[in-house]
Amino acid sequence: MLISVSPNAETFHLRNRFFSYIMTVMENGQMENLYFGKAVHERPSFAYLHEEGLHGMSAFNAPEPSRLCLSFARQEYPSYGTSDFRCPAFEIEQRNGSRISAFKFRSYEIIPGKPSLAPLPAATMESDAEGETLILKLADDATDMTLYLFYTIYADLPILTRSAKFELNGGTPVTLTRALSMSLDLPDMAYEMMTFTGAWGRERSVRTRKLDHGVQANFSMRGSSSAEMNPFFILKRPETTEHQGEALGFNIVYSGSHLGQVECTSDGTTRVLTGIHPDNFSWRLTPGESFQTPEAILGYSGDGLNGLSRAFHDLIRTRIVRGVWRDRPRPILINNWEATGMNFDEALILKIAEKAKDVGVELFVLDDGWFGARNDEHAGLGDWVANTDKLPGGIKGLSEKIEAMGLKFGLWIEPEMVNKDSDLYRAHPDWILSAPNRFQSHGRFQYVLDFSRKEVVDQVHSQIAKVIREAKISYIKWDSNRYITECYSNGSAPEDQGKTFHKHILGIYDLYTRLTAEFPEILFESCSSGGARYDLGMLCFAPQTWTSDNTDGYERQRIQYGTSYGYPLSSIGAHVSAVPNHQTGRLVPLSTRANVAYFGTFGYELDLNRLSADEIEKVKDQVKFMKANRELIHRGDFYRLISPFEGNETGWIVVGKDKKKALAGFYQCLNNANAGWLRFRLAGLDPNRKYRVALRVDVDPRYLAPFIPGLDRLLATLNQSAELYGDELMYAGLPLNRMLFVIQGCDFTSLLIELEAIE
Ligand code: DGJ
Repeated sequence: MLISVSPNAETFHLRNRFFSYIMTVMENGQMENLYFGKAVHERPSFAYLHEEGLHGMSAFNAPEPSRLCLSFARQEYPSYGTSDFRCPAFEIEQRNGSRISAFKFRSYEIIPGKPSLAPLPAATMESDAEGETLILKLADDATDMTLYLFYTIYADLPILTRSAKFELNGGTPVTLTRALSMSLDLPDMAYEMMTFTGAWGRERSVRTRKLDHGVQANFSMRGSSSAEMNPFFILKRPETTEHQGEALGFNIVYSGSHLGQVECTSDGTTRVLTGIHPDNFSWRLTPGESFQTPEAILGYSGDGLNGLSRAFHDLIRTRIVRGVWRDRPRPILINNWEATGMNFDEALILKIAEKAKDVGVELFVLDDGWFGARNDEHAGLGDWVANTDKLPGGIKGLSEKIEAMGLKFGLWIEPEMVNKDSDLYRAHPDWILSAPNRFQSHGRFQYVLDFSRKEVVDQVHSQIAKVIREAKISYIKWDSNRYITECYSNGSAPEDQGKTFHKHILGIYDLYTRLTAEFPEILFESCSSGGARYDLGMLCFAPQTWTSDNTDGYERQRIQYGTSYGYPLSSIGAHVSAVPNHQTGRLVPLSTRANVAYFGTFGYELDLNRLSADEIEKVKDQVKFMKANRELIHRGDFYRLISPFEGNETGWIVVGKDKKKALAGFYQCLNNANAGWLRFRLAGLDPNRKYRVALRVDVDPRYLAPFIPGLDRLLATLNQSAELYGDELMYAGLPLNRMLFVIQGCDFTSLLIELEAIE
């Protein structure tokens, strides 16, 4: 039993072996949070956790002689206008202009498993035995509304999911002007907030700040989860490290504008809110209608940040990602974007694909430029018909040729967008999101189609489904290359414009639902100018995400390291590209580019025909290595070891769930003279098992010269594998001679450590 109810049926204790979440009904009928933290024993009453006192000039919310003061109460889902002056979780504008509401507890229900939130995507359960859901029913008599608060606890994951649903039963219409997915009041503010911020080409950079009085927010108002502020954020204790201490993680299963807000009061408490950003949101309800918020995901770790990441990784890998590709080995792909841009013809594509087939690549992906008049960024988006000047046999013909070579074929699409120079726009100029008689901002010369309108989704669906039905397509890269600026739907009434942003996101989910249902065998990878839409909503449809357009083997360490806090390696699209790198001009050795990309869904983003014979042999070896290790990498437990945000080095390891195999990566930015040895301390291994340890280092033969003293002995060690216990590797660490980086002949070098249990 995961959910206990007190004898008076007013206190609820959700508990698994990781955490307890306790709440109760206050004397005014509203819900109070008593505890969220490490699992504690069940008891008949937790009333001692309720804190009440004299609060100076505060107003008391319950009738006299009560001293219940909501200014200080830790509430479950607080509203505006109750003597609580913190930011509320929701606000309802009523016909008489009032925004005051008071939802009081009426009843509860505990159901096995987890209800669907469709059409919103949400975390799943494979069977009802995996967890339980508590549904609290609250009512506000003055508006004739019901509020349902959903809490789902998994038996075997340190994860709690939450959402809220508003129902207007009768009376007069109301407007929700704010409807966040959850609120959590914590009794102190001794936390640091970690956010994952950035921009195009430098997504999910780790920021850590101490909480302070006032509001600290992590948000997007771009109509997308965004590269600037990912919806995932963490509150950790100041003493928490990667390996120990308490940390709470928050995310939402949503791809649109979001707000994650942490407010600390002057009495030293903390309120966490997350959900749809209230700006540009309002939802009018008429009697009989309801509004369901997206799902919030709360993770708890008593085992440091790595423990928190593993909780999210396991949830995402097994209960967010779904469909046949959840458990299948991910294909090693080659994508032509960095090799050709939009400037290609069929002969060039086939040449790139042939070479890829030779080295063992499994999937060829044709990127942007294959359709309509798409020869540059100015035209073609919206016309999903092959450009037969480039591809005489269309997508059908090309895909058949690629399949005949023994490769699978994948295709790029950008369904939400349109260029003004397109047949679609010429036929339907009112189908873009834009306010009447106002300036229309373009982004990369493109405009956002109004997916809040079903007829628009239908039209795009029919074009794209036709291409897929006719051709042999195994993979789709779904791109989205601009944010929403003028969010206005020419298909909605003025009073419903506040719904447009959210309805647009529901339209995207609708198209994804239709395509994934009709083509269940296709692997989808989401993309948004690189990693600008890396979120749990997308991952419900597309098991992998193109992490960044920055493929530089050095900067990618940071991007993948930051991404790994909230998202598993099996979702991290990572490719080896050409040097000098297109985004940084940097020359990172081929071995390091691969050693970074292995810790994701591996592939290539270049024309292999331009590589030397020696490089091609290395590429063959890389492909073989990834095929042998992808199950471990995509299903194992990942541990961050050394942060690239803090120094010259990066380290991480992935350990099989059974702890029999592991693969660690160590990366050094700049070489230093006479740098001596370092101890690389691993994590996650079985301390009592002995492992065979083998180094994988790409030595540059130019440095096999006698002038490096002791080089012969050093090189000899590369061919010897050591046998060490897990405890030695984790606590004493693996001594690495830094000459191993010097003899690679440049900066930005790396090595891999393969571990296999031998007893
Ligand atoms: C942005 C993506 O991130 C790139 O990989 C590529 O697909 C381009 N769009 C194509 O326009």
